[in-house]
Amino acid sequence: MSPFPGETNMMRLRSAAIVMALTSACAALAQTQPQTQPQTQPQTQPQPRTPGIESRAYVWNRPNPERASAMKLKGDVERGRIAFEVCRGCHKADGSGRSDGSYPQLAGQHATVLIKQMVDIRAGVRDNPKMHPFASERVISVQEVADIAAFLSGLPVPGDSGKGQGDALARGKVLYAGNCDSCHGANGEGDGKKFYPVVAGQHYLYLLREARDIRDGTRRNANPKMVKVVKKYSDADLEAVSDYMSRLSLPAGAGKPGAK
Ligand code: HEC
Ligand code: HEC
Repeated sequence: MSPFPGETNMMRLRSAAIVMALTSACAALAQTQPQTQPQTQPQTQPQPRTPGIESRAYVWNRPNPERASAMKLKGDVERGRIAFEVCRGCHKADGSGRSDGSYPQLAGQHATVLIKQMVDIRAGVRDNPKMHPFASERVISVQEVADIAAFLSGLPVPGDSGKGQGDALARGKVLYAGNCDSCHGANGEGDGKKFYPVVAGQHYLYLLREARDIRDGTRRNANPKMVKVVKKYSDADLEAVSDYMSRLSLPAGAGKPGAK
């Protein structure tokens, strides 16, 4: 007897046919999906593009409802650890990224900075088409954005980031002092309240790429005050200052577990 009272053979056949059709459709879809690294790409829409620093009307850190709600929500470290599973393929389970600079170090970053960057990527004001499918609002909720920020910001900043050549550190120090430390801090600690990132312990090659992108206007969510400063820097200057920054370390106990 059918486990579903009133179910006819016809109905069962029809559901079986639907299941089969769906299964083969899925199989066909799976075959046509390009094999993207490093995990299966979740099915989402492409990253949107929102006007950024290239537009006249650009306002840095403009009020954004999603950012405001993520900042209001209380992040849960354990839920954040679980939500971060989709991110591990690139950023590694401990958030330390890759020393070749392809993926940034995220551990110990200010929660505000993490939230701003995630929300900017979701909104398409910071271009990151590779990451967008994993971080879009279809994959992680605003609550999970807050949870991930709580999880990552409480992790210690690793001390073994990728470094530069080490041959222009004295020059890097001079270039950093007075121009960069006013926002990023003498020890590279940034300023969570102002959304200024921690740069201590970040990978050299990532810092260099971002500093260039900010100078050249291709990191479109940049702070115009930083752009003004960094515009005067040659590529060699940026190499020296990035190398110096990657070697900074936060004083012991500077971590802010679960901080907002
Ligand atoms: C496919 C690889 C990939 C995946 C998966 C990925 N990211 Fe990223 N992420 C990147 C890349 C690449 C960058 C740096 C982009 C650039 O150079 O501007 C980045 C940047 C970031 C930044 C900004 C860091 C900073 O210092 O400004 C945050 C925060 C971040 N990712 C969080 C996440 C979270 C959370 C997830 C999971 C929901 C995730 N990422 C998944 C590749 C990835
Ligand atoms: C007015 C404050 C300010 C000054 C001065 C400043 N920065 Fe920044 N910097 C920022 C902010 C804010 C961000 C994050 C951009 C955003 O909002 O997305 C940033 C991001 C960066 C990043 C990328 C970090 C990451 O995690 O993605 C690098 C590298 C950097 N700054 C280097 C420098 C250097 C080198 C100097 C000095 C020549 C400098 N900054 C001066 C505010 C500043």
